[in-house]
Amino acid sequence: MRFKGRSAIITGGGTGIGEATALLLARNGARVLITGRREEKLKELCSRAEEGLSIEYKVCDVSVESGCADTVETAFRKHGKIDILFNNAGIIFSGPFHEVETSRFQEIFDINVKGPFMMCKYAIPHMISAGRGFIVNNSSVIGLKGFAGLSAYSASKGALVQLTRSMALEYADKGLRINAVCPGGVWTPMFDSYLERAEDAEAAQAFMESLHPMGRLADPYEIAEAVLFLCDEKVMFNTGSMLSIDGGIIAK
Ligand SMILES: NC(=O)c1ccc[n+]([C@@H]2O[C@H](COP(=O)([O-])OP(=O)(O)OC[C@H]3O[C@@H](n4cnc5c(N)ncnc54)[C@H](OP(=O)(O)O)[C@@H]3O)[C@@H](O)[C@H]2O)c1
Repeated sequence: MRFKGRSAIITGGGTGIGEATALLLARNGARVLITGRREEKLKELCSRAEEGLSIEYKVCDVSVESGCADTVETAFRKHGKIDILFNNAGIIFSGPFHEVETSRFQEIFDINVKGPFMMCKYAIPHMISAGRGFIVNNSSVIGLKGFAGLSAYSASKGALVQLTRSMALEYADKGLRINAVCPGGVWTPMFDSYLERAEDAEAAQAFMESLHPMGRLADPYEIAEAVLFLCDEKVMFNTGSMLSIDGGIIAK
């Protein structure tokens, strides 16, 4: 119960990495507010969670400023504080760079970059008042390295890396710890939909696995454990770091 009584917000908490992190934090005693656009996914997770776990939901599109502000205020009203913010919501699409619609480029930045910016903007004043707070942004190994066919996604995750570093510097002396996780391929609905769109799903899976020196993709709980590590009060001398959990890709 190392997170007993701590208040956490997880965007995109109804599925994949967000879902695993919500369950892991709640099993360790945290009170968790999950958000997303699809109410049925959020409701389903709350009803599936073991009895006694504190997981509630709020429908929120992170690209809408009033939704971000409301989410932060809801968590603050319910729990009286905001200890942890996991900016996890994100979208991906692939395709040749010169065929990317400008509106799709804007959309991916609105969700993957402006969303975390707005969530942080509203959560940080509460954290400064409390003199403490943990923020983890979900970037990607593709935020650290280029990847042909994923230019817009890569650019958005790279922007999130620099946002994380600069915010970490700005609030390092105010008790805030601001880091990012940079996962490699993870078995989640996002990865499933990437394979579904591939011409040959089996070949695409084998190719993706071969990119990882470990020869496999991650389970969402392997990323969730890393998020908990970055929010652990015993790991206080850590801010502005990009924690690669990628089966060895970045070491290549
Ligand atoms: N899977 C991988 O291989 C991988 C690797 C590196 C990084 N990541 C990152 O990990 C994060 C989680 O992805 P995942 O792999 O767990 O896939 P996922 O299951 O598709 O999760 C994405 C979540 O984001 C939510 N979301 C999307 N747009 C949103 C918006 N505008 N407002 C609020 N919520 C929104 C989705 O819920 P709704 O659609 O209901 O809103 C969904 O719950 C993403 O940021 C992704 O880029 C994933």
